[in-house]
Amino acid sequence: MRSPVKDDKFSFGLWTVGWPAADPFGSATRETLAPWDYATKLAELGAWGITFHDDDVVPFGSSDSERERINDRLRSTCEDVDLVIEMVTTNTFTHPIFKDGAFTSNDRSVRRYALRKILRNVDLAASLGASTFVMWGGREGAEYDSSKDYHAAYSRYAEGIDTVAGYIKDRGYGLRIALEPKPNEPRGDILLPTVGHALGFIAQLENADIVGLNPEVGHEQMANLNYTAGIAQALWQDKLFHIDLNGQKGLKYDQDLVFGHGDLLSAFFTVDLIENGFPGGGPRYEGPRHFDYKPSRTEGLPGVWESAKANMELYLTLKERAAAFRADPEVEEALRYSGVYELGEPTLGEGESLEDFLADRSAFEDFDVRTPAERDYGFVRLHQLAVMHLTGAR
Ligand code: GCO
Ligand code: MN
Ligand code: MN
Repeated sequence: MRSPVKDDKFSFGLWTVGWPAADPFGSATRETLAPWDYATKLAELGAWGITFHDDDVVPFGSSDSERERINDRLRSTCEDVDLVIEMVTTNTFTHPIFKDGAFTSNDRSVRRYALRKILRNVDLAASLGASTFVMWGGREGAEYDSSKDYHAAYSRYAEGIDTVAGYIKDRGYGLRIALEPKPNEPRGDILLPTVGHALGFIAQLENADIVGLNPEVGHEQMANLNYTAGIAQALWQDKLFHIDLNGQKGLKYDQDLVFGHGDLLSAFFTVDLIENGFPGGGPRYEGPRHFDYKPSRTEGLPGVWESAKANMELYLTLKERAAAFRADPEVEEALRYSGVYELGEPTLGEGESLEDFLADRSAFEDFDVRTPAERDYGFVRLHQLAVMHLTGAR
């Protein structure tokens, strides 16, 4: 397996390798390094970019001068080690004031504070040359339906996102917002729980043109949904602005495993879509291959770096296997046999009016339903070929 290179566009959240591994049941198991030390090491491993929350770098409540000093140091390190700061995000979930949410807290003063914290971070993101501003509303939600006026909550959520998007436009920043859906954890239920919910919500925004998605593998899988199909819809709607790759084993807490360490077959098709596109062409994802995972609590620093490498290694392996899958003449033949390319043909003919269609007896009255009813689609053979490629058996 070749080593990762800049062109692979691999990026990592500083909070991933920087997670000291405290969980609700136990205290931290690792020391933390300075943000620039994580950045330096990630660059050494072959990463192209990094991302971070404001508070990953500058401790909450720091003075303005301290904030500037620390951010400058990170910026110059990234320049020195040739790392792009491709995305910046805001922590609106750790501090106790956000316990009932940020944009959707019942407490208006919290909503106003959150908005200021985020706008200040938008300025930073723009000054660092980031292209995406992720917004994960981890605390936007509830444990109890009695506690939330959901109609008002969606209105406040939209107001908040539209205000941030309006600010980005006003200032002329080259940033786009990417909302990150998640069904639950840390709230009992989180608003915008899935890709589909978030797409529906975005359609209602005034500034929808610069708001898209940052779907995470594990988050869709926590809702028992198909991640590849989810990002496919986001691509179809031109809303796949960013991705969070990791691993998850079914309906559990957010495991944040290494990419591919959860549902490997699903990861294969995710990489196949990202790297090879839809079989019949169409929009492609050109953004960063961003990992949002957590090195397990059992790992010391060597394990942290091994796990960071493992994400890239698995991605590259799947990329190789997916390329071989697509290049295999038997797969090509199987795709045709299965009718995969047929789906690209519009159902109505070019210039065919509704009247023409209704008059076409071959489509209905004279149509022999037995032929398609008896058709063998060969999907199992096609899928078997994919699995054989994935396992290296072909
Ligand atoms: C989670 C989320 C976060 C976000 C991050 C960026 O489940 O904790 O995935 O890691 O991605 O806050 O907004
Ligand atoms: Mn997550
Ligand atoms: Mn995430």
